[in-house]
Amino acid sequence: MKWMSILATAAALSMGSAACNNESKEEQPAKPQAGISKQAWGTANGQPVDLYTLRNSKGTVVTITNYGGIVTSFLAKDKNDSVASVVVGFDSIEPYLQSHPYFGAIIGRYGNRIGAGKFSIGDKNYTLATNNGANHLHGGVVGFDKVIWTAAPIVDTLPSLKLSYLSKDGEEGYPGNLQVTVTYTLTEEDGLKMQYEATTDQATPVNLTNHSYFNLTGDTKETIFNHQLQLNADAYTPVDNGLITTGEIRQVAGTPFDFRSPMSIGSRIDSVPGGYDHNYVLNNTDGSLRKVAHLADPVSGRFLEVWTTEPGIQFYSGNFLDGKFINHTGTAVQLHTALCLETQHFPDSPNKKEFPSTILEPGKKYYTETIYKVGVGK
Ligand code: BGC
Repeated sequence: MKWMSILATAAALSMGSAACNNESKEEQPAKPQAGISKQAWGTANGQPVDLYTLRNSKGTVVTITNYGGIVTSFLAKDKNDSVASVVVGFDSIEPYLQSHPYFGAIIGRYGNRIGAGKFSIGDKNYTLATNNGANHLHGGVVGFDKVIWTAAPIVDTLPSLKLSYLSKDGEEGYPGNLQVTVTYTLTEEDGLKMQYEATTDQATPVNLTNHSYFNLTGDTKETIFNHQLQLNADAYTPVDNGLITTGEIRQVAGTPFDFRSPMSIGSRIDSVPGGYDHNYVLNNTDGSLRKVAHLADPVSGRFLEVWTTEPGIQFYSGNFLDGKFINHTGTAVQLHTALCLETQHFPDSPNKKEFPSTILEPGKKYYTETIYKVGVGK
């Protein structure tokens, strides 16, 4: 099994780990040591890339490559202690070099769409690369999901990986040199914490997120229709035919968008043409970290909590997945076999003055934080 080799490599390479201690009492299974390890993972854009393995002392393991900052696996136990990845991913770099729907990647400079790839700041008009019909999606033709990030593993009390990238003035049409860091930390509570930071030398839109696709069964042979979702959102932002927000903020009450109480995803999806692909307006937006979503799979017993400082979350029910990619488990990633919960500011905010601003000014610091926390139980 590929997982066994990842786990063995992690154990052998783990920094600060007491790898092979022959003097330990035989009957005591060694407690996993928290740590981070690195292995060469081929090349992308003509340069070598690496895979980092973060492990906490409970034995939960997350693997991340510095190509696109992609979370390639998040290994978590189910109610029977069976381990599987709750995110869709691949065991080698090659599938990630094909055109793929952002599996596990860091998204930037701007998560989701900017209508017609145009916006203005003050009296300056900007035109971005368009890569989704007439619109700009997830940062353009070469977004942050397709660049090589400079990686710095950090072993403090918890294993962390700090990824840095300089997005140059004019990249994909955006103004200003944007210095970005994304720090992934695996907590002892099985949370994958993501801290996003950025500074700029010209005013520019910034909206960073992660595009992990979850299937809590650990296998994409199952759809996500039986997953129970709860979202702390009284409203959502409707979209037009090009999936551009209209500017309206609409209450979810009495609609198939109402997930204020846990609902199975499949129960009303047929009433939503195309499936769910909408930004939810999260409650209690004061910039503090709070729990905004709870996803549970009754069969495996696994759950996912999403915590964020952000005002919005894109619930995307894998509407464009088409079986082209084969998951770790050897199963094709078919329609609705995985879902995304992308924490964010609202789509097309640079053109919607009524939405919270996404413009970062020079001298200001962009900081957002999101945690994907897994567990077993309700
Ligand atoms: C968007 C979808 C898009 C998907 C993959 C999601 O964040 O909302 O419309 O198809 O990403 O590209």
